[in-house]
Amino acid sequence: MDESDVKQQERNELRRRAEEVLRGRTERLRELSSEDIEKLVHELSVHQIELEMQNEELRRAHDELEKRVEEQTAELARSNAELEQFAYIASHDLQEPLRTVSGFTQLLAKRYRGKLDKDADDFISYIVDGATRMQKMIDDLLEYSRVGTRGKPFERTDLEAVFNQVLTNLKVSIEQNGAVLTHDPLPTVMADATQMVQLFQNLISNAIKFRKKDEPPRIHVSAERMGDEWVLSVRDNGIGIAPEFMGRLFQVFARGHASSEYPGTGIGLAICKRIVERHGGRIWAESEPGKGSTFYFTIPARDAR
Ligand SMILES: Nc1ncnc2c1ncn2[C@@H]1O[C@H](COP(=O)(O)OP(=O)(O)OP(=O)(O)O)[C@@H](O)[C@H]1O
Ligand SMILES: [Mg+2]
Repeated sequence: MDESDVKQQERNELRRRAEEVLRGRTERLRELSSEDIEKLVHELSVHQIELEMQNEELRRAHDELEKRVEEQTAELARSNAELEQFAYIASHDLQEPLRTVSGFTQLLAKRYRGKLDKDADDFISYIVDGATRMQKMIDDLLEYSRVGTRGKPFERTDLEAVFNQVLTNLKVSIEQNGAVLTHDPLPTVMADATQMVQLFQNLISNAIKFRKKDEPPRIHVSAERMGDEWVLSVRDNGIGIAPEFMGRLFQVFARGHASSEYPGTGIGLAICKRIVERHGGRIWAESEPGKGSTFYFTIPARDAR
């Protein structure tokens, strides 16, 4: 045992005694000599300084962490705004040259279809298809960037009314597919009503589109209060989603099924994600291929009631 161990032992013993004193076992005080008490007082003040230093260090680490989180949040907001601006400008500016390309190919198709050879006709229709698809993607990107730029302030929004609006908007598709929609009582939340319609409509129209051929779509919307948020879900009995696609589900233009069979550009769920996040919620999905899918999202409950 070297000198520092002895010292450590002494300090431990003194601390133990100090703790006993603090616990009220004052009778042990009598056993202490005045030298002991002096040592004890010294040890206690050293201990106190140590504690204060540790506290100060913790406070500094906490402040530093808080500052870093604040900086990162601001940075994220800045880069989100930049991205939004970029998507808006790019899609807006791309529209003009694209209009020229599609205008002239349509003219080319009208004037020269059947007058050149078979290959030329095929090439022309590929160009027309490509330009049309690109136009749709640019429109979709614009719509995506507008979630942030055109969003309205939140107000009390009755999701029952939102649901009924979506039923009206999708009436034709619901009837054509023989879809059966049911729902739990839906809450009133603080939200942008137009975006809530957009959100439910994207999810419900997906549930109808990705239906099984031999079974009419059955779709259920549920709402459950969990703490200070609502968990809403849209469940279907459709074709389901492959596990390997789950990670890309909410990305812009990501599609998990062939567009020849299921039309679309793959923007719907990316828009849903932005809407949910703008409202301070999260969105995710669960699915069993061949059985159906459920899309969940949360929305804060605190301010509406
Ligand atoms: N309810 C669902 N059942 C099965 N697959 C789904 C469902 N919802 C989404 N998906 C899969 O996720 C992909 C992305 O969905 P998203 O709504 O973003 O695009 P989309 O419906 O293909 O096109 P868009 O919404 O732009 O018309 C779909 O292509 C499909 O593969
Ligand atoms: Mg969709």
